[in-house]
Amino acid sequence: MGQASFSYADETAIVTGSTKGIGRGIAEGLAEANANVIINARTPEAVEATAAELERSGDGSIIGIAGDIGEPGDVEALVEATLEEFGAIDLLVNNAAVWPPRPMPEVGLEEWDMGLDVNARGTFYAATLVARSMIERERPGSIVNITSQAGERHGAGHGIYGISKAAQNGLTWRMAHDLAGHGIRVNAVSTSQTDSYQLRKSYVAGKEPEELTNEEIESAKAEYGERIPLGRVGEPEDVADGVLFLGSSAASYVTGHVLRVSGGANLE
Ligand SMILES: NC(=O)c1ccc[n+]([C@@H]2O[C@H](COP(=O)([O-])OP(=O)(O)OC[C@H]3O[C@@H](n4cnc5c(N)ncnc54)[C@H](OP(=O)(O)O)[C@@H]3O)[C@@H](O)[C@H]2O)c1
Repeated sequence: MGQASFSYADETAIVTGSTKGIGRGIAEGLAEANANVIINARTPEAVEATAAELERSGDGSIIGIAGDIGEPGDVEALVEATLEEFGAIDLLVNNAAVWPPRPMPEVGLEEWDMGLDVNARGTFYAATLVARSMIERERPGSIVNITSQAGERHGAGHGIYGISKAAQNGLTWRMAHDLAGHGIRVNAVSTSQTDSYQLRKSYVAGKEPEELTNEEIESAKAEYGERIPLGRVGEPEDVADGVLFLGSSAASYVTGHVLRVSGGANLE
């Protein structure tokens, strides 16, 4: 099997929702590839702690900027502060997401707004501001949206979350088309069950992720893995590898693509 490694030296990447789970794994992968990485999430303490923990992963600078991707003012502040600190943005990873809890038809407009404001509007707005900054500086880069198999299914009970992920797929295709003339590539990674804070909420009924023992985590992962064609649940590193590929020169002719990193779960 070929071995791949990527260098993001002297490049700057924003990863939204990067204190936990998949986002953290992506931030770690980019930091190890020597990028400057901006850690973001809503909880300031976790943002600072994650930035400090990843600081020594590579040669780039790691900074934390707390903010809610569902709040347009926070998205503006995230982009502006990054440009002030590093002068340009080469890669934006739209990873932050929320999961409106109830199924349809129980959900109402509140859940609709919550799900769509973060997952769809936040992705659109961050991508738009970052694309404008790339065009102004004549320094084209790349945008990668983290989407889900739930966005491609016609049923599967994921309600508003699934709708928001379908919107992210549509956004990926349309933005890829409209930004191609500027040399900016827009792609997505669609994943299935990946070991993360979010997925761990479902490992043992009634237990929060912080309360799980290692044995409970491993046993739930083994059980979930049996339902996935490649025989295991995904790890954040799997998604990170997809992002590092799509953001790199190895993917310079790839745009508007939704890359499935799901162990074949999309085939089911
Ligand atoms: N895990 C899976 O099995 C799976 C499957 C398919 C797709 N995905 C996709 O993968 C991505 C990451 O999911 P995950 O499972 O890694 O989630 P996770 O473990 O729950 O982590 C979510 C991260 O996003 C942050 N966040 C949540 N809401 C935010 C907001 N409004 N603004 C900024 N940051 C926010 C969280 O920190 P704070 O709470 O402090 O803000 C945390 O750092 C999502 O786009 C999800 O749709 C995951």
